[in-house]
Amino acid sequence: MKETVVSGIRPTGKLHLGNYFGAVTNFVKMQYDYNCFFFIADLHSLTTHPTPQDLHGYVRHVLVEYLACGIDPEQSTIYIQSDVPEVTELYLYLNMIAYLGELERSTSFKDKIRSQPDNVNAGLLTYPALMAADILLHKATKVPVGKDQEQHLEMTRTFGNRFNRLYNAEYFPEPFAFNYSENLVKVPGLDGKGKMSKSEGDISCIYLADTAEVIRKKVSRAVTDGGPITENQSKPEAVQNLFDLMKIVSSADTLAHFDSLYNGMAIRYGDFKKQLAEDMIVFNSPIRERIEALSEDNTYLAKVAKRGAEKAKESAQKTIKEVRSLIGFKSF
Ligand code: ADP
Ligand code: TRP
Repeated sequence: MKETVVSGIRPTGKLHLGNYFGAVTNFVKMQYDYNCFFFIADLHSLTTHPTPQDLHGYVRHVLVEYLACGIDPEQSTIYIQSDVPEVTELYLYLNMIAYLGELERSTSFKDKIRSQPDNVNAGLLTYPALMAADILLHKATKVPVGKDQEQHLEMTRTFGNRFNRLYNAEYFPEPFAFNYSENLVKVPGLDGKGKMSKSEGDISCIYLADTAEVIRKKVSRAVTDGGPITENQSKPEAVQNLFDLMKIVSSADTLAHFDSLYNGMAIRYGDFKKQLAEDMIVFNSPIRERIEALSEDNTYLAKVAKRGAEKAKESAQKTIKEVRSLIGFKSF
């Protein structure tokens, strides 16, 4: 029996290189070895109150981009979370065993209180219970996500184990974050600090759908410093971030070349950025071309979403039936 894998991304815009290297590239590889469910977490995105048009557009973007990146609907189950309402039932059961204190302590909740103080809704607080429901719904053991999601995985294990104890059953297995590389990946942004993220704004992100001109413009504006002032000095965060991006998209020789220029205080950031931009374009182009082609093909997208929902529902309904029985819901 193949192990089960679940992962999802909230539809909040287009996917960027962080999403790709932190999550989607693993989805693509895993589909050949595991029983995979990859979904679009549209219920999760309601915490920020998108307009109906934005919501639909973003869901469509993610579906197109999943396919453009190489997730094969014949190999994996690709579905839209709201097409499988069974997850909301499991979410309710998990909410009964998730404690207020532990939900309030979650780092993502604390971040949200800071970033959207005018909209601290209950959905934000119970976000980890919905995420746990996504994972436990298919009894997954592996969850390909970036480093920022580790705490959510820990909470998922806590809720699953608590459910098992409460109902005296070895029912939910423990899921763990997964990445093919040794450490969970963190792709830096172009804005000089921290990770690439939509919440840091468009200047931080290279989107998979970005054209060559857009990539050149964004990279040329990336934050650097005045240049090294001693030989072999350590790099400040903004510069290190660009080197880390180069490590991802360029060859080892290119990286070594600019590294030695930096160490010898001979680097010219203009040349460095030009090379980085061109290597990003080479990386992005085939994906962007597939995005453009798939965006036109509504019939295919509808077919993928329908088939995915059917397969996901089959797995979800089996779990919900068993969970109901464990809880003690019985028909007369
Ligand atoms: P964003 O920060 O742009 O809103 P999300 O939080 O929606 O991105 O992340 C979706 C998925 O992509 C998650 O699995 C997350 O761990 C991964 N991810 C996002 N940004 C990065 C990054 N900069 N490096 C590595 N993984 C990332
Ligand atoms: N919380 C994840 C994020 O912000 C998205 C997500 C929702 C998810 N449910 C999930 C990821 C289940 C993996 C498994 O990126």
